[in-house]
Amino acid sequence: MKDLTAKIKKLKKEKKAIILAHNYQRPEIQEIADYIGDSIELSRKAMQETEAEIIVFSAVDFMAESAAILNPNKKVLLPTLGARCPMAQMLTTDEIKRAKKLYPNAPVVLYVNTLAEAKAQCDVCCTSANAVEVINSLDSDVILFGPDRNLAEYAAEKTGKKLIPLPEWGFCPTHLLFQPEDVTILKQAHPEAVVMVHPECSTEMRNSADFIGSTSKMCMFAKESNAKTFIVGTEEGLLYRLRKENPDKKFIIAYDGAVCPNMKLTTLDRLYASLKDEKYVVKVPENVAKKARASLERMFQVKS
Ligand code: 13P
Ligand code: SF4
Repeated sequence: MKDLTAKIKKLKKEKKAIILAHNYQRPEIQEIADYIGDSIELSRKAMQETEAEIIVFSAVDFMAESAAILNPNKKVLLPTLGARCPMAQMLTTDEIKRAKKLYPNAPVVLYVNTLAEAKAQCDVCCTSANAVEVINSLDSDVILFGPDRNLAEYAAEKTGKKLIPLPEWGFCPTHLLFQPEDVTILKQAHPEAVVMVHPECSTEMRNSADFIGSTSKMCMFAKESNAKTFIVGTEEGLLYRLRKENPDKKFIIAYDGAVCPNMKLTTLDRLYASLKDEKYVVKVPENVAKKARASLERMFQVKS
């Protein structure tokens, strides 16, 4: 592993590349990354990158696509073609078009966990870090929202607006694994623990939480909190970062099978091959990218 890490670092320098990695990536990938973050932080970083010629995006398809859309002059690489977010596949453009016909006056807000073609059809994008602010920034009280039904319910609770889910049943298979019973059991063993969960978790899980936020917001919360023990309801990769940043605090995953297999497809070997062969280049046709970029840029204009 040491050899491979050294080879990646050398190649990275030679090719003027940077590695952006999501908070769920494997520990060895987090260690070698130039920047780690949640989806909005990674998009912003990719958009603002000027120095690097290549951006290696160690995450899943929709995040790398957003980087390619926001910074079309850079070569964006997704190290593993199979690293696709299943939630992003759940919303088709046909479904959006159908819903727009049924609710012609409702703006369409899409979670960034969507493919570029879907983003091109919406009014504004959001992430789990700013969904509430994006919804509040719109004049309408009825909003079409997709594809995560749990995030829709969370944002509806917070804003008091009616969010119509698109599709009706969109979900993250990894966050679905968390069950409130497990939190109850863990709380019996650690009554002092603070519970923090991702908004992609079920209503019952969110109701059991002291804090709900995006992956990076959970990192900020844990750092600032006086609590010493945390029960965490999100993909297990985040715990590596949480433990590294807070060595004196204890982090317990709320369900220890909570792994996003798609995020974990990127290994050091695959990252090395990606950089060496400059594959797989993420390309979004300009007619789609132009519209998707506008939806992403509108999101960046919302204060959060
Ligand atoms: P964050 O933006 O909170 O990192 O979430 C992305 C994601 O895919 C959660 O499953
Ligand atoms: Fe997609 Fe869920 Fe994996 Fe996030 S954790 S990338 S939403 S499958």
